[in-house]
Amino acid sequence: MKQLNRQSSLSKQHRPHHHRLSLSRSLASCLLREQRLLFVLLGFLLASSFFLLYPSLTPHPNTLSSSARDTIAARIPRGGGASSVVSAAARRLPVGVRKPSLRVVVTGGVGFVGSHLVDQLLAGGDSVIVVDNFFTGRKENVAHHLSNPRFELIRHDVVEPILLEVDQIYHLACPASPVHYKFNPIKTIKTNVMGTLNMLGLAKRVGARFLLTSTSEVYGDPLEHPQKESYWGHVNPIGVRSCYDEGKRTAETLTMDYHRGAGVEVRIARIFNTYGPRMCLDDGRVVSNFVAQVCVNL
Ligand SMILES: NC(=O)c1ccc[n+]([C@@H]2O[C@H](COP(=O)([O-])OP(=O)(O)OC[C@H]3O[C@@H](n4cnc5c(N)ncnc54)[C@H](O)[C@@H]3O)[C@@H](O)[C@H]2O)c1
Repeated sequence: MKQLNRQSSLSKQHRPHHHRLSLSRSLASCLLREQRLLFVLLGFLLASSFFLLYPSLTPHPNTLSSSARDTIAARIPRGGGASSVVSAAARRLPVGVRKPSLRVVVTGGVGFVGSHLVDQLLAGGDSVIVVDNFFTGRKENVAHHLSNPRFELIRHDVVEPILLEVDQIYHLACPASPVHYKFNPIKTIKTNVMGTLNMLGLAKRVGARFLLTSTSEVYGDPLEHPQKESYWGHVNPIGVRSCYDEGKRTAETLTMDYHRGAGVEVRIARIFNTYGPRMCLDDGRVVSNFVAQVCVNL
């Protein structure tokens, strides 16, 4: 009994010490647990500050090679100009994240302008589907892409609807030289009106961004020089060129109505006289005519 009493008194003497020990142990383990949380938080903080301070491995636009800059500038800007696309892309992409590749359809993609656009899009890493009826375009213009798995060529007339899953639509299909667009004026206006309607319908259905290549011809026989975008033009609606001029004006109207009425994201590029490689010498446009005449008189 005495021993028991001694033991109990002893245990009574040790209890506060034990209690303190277990309390400090639990405090330590709790702190350790808390520290784990602290470490996790610290990790998050470090990672996010890293992404904020070094947002991209993409070089600054000023340090890009001219070809890379051209590639980016050739993209349809989302808001603002091409330069805003470059700086936005360069600023927003985090380390190691590359620009997602887009699925792009180019109507009239085997033509003069279209084939150069296809070169740029493929060089930028996008997948390209060319839709063309070969009226004025030539397969040779894209022959160098035929073995590229990111390239597809479809013989199709845009006057007929087509269903494709794409992110962007560049709508170029239309004969551009007077010789060609006057060859079958009804077909020209059909291409401009029905073709544009079909491609806008596709853009609406799949939520793709749409670009129309219009022309300086929308100003007709202008009374203002040079023509500003705010100038509405001076166009003959019943002349021999009207199939092209009025066709493109209607295509522009449709583009803006799909934008306002259906929320399709659109761009309109009014191209002025362009010339360069892959243009036929007998194309019938002013620069090729001039060069052809010089060659003949040599
Ligand atoms: N090149 C210029 O100076 C210039 C100037 C102003 C506007 N544009 C516009 O730019 C675009 C391209 O012009 P381009 O100079 O490359 O002309 P282009 O004639 O070389 O190319 C037009 C392409 O569209 C195709 N096409 C025509 N009708 C079609 C149809 N119904 N369905 C499918 N494909 C069809 C042709 O086969 C051709 O490949 C056109 O919309 C044109 O109006 C060009």
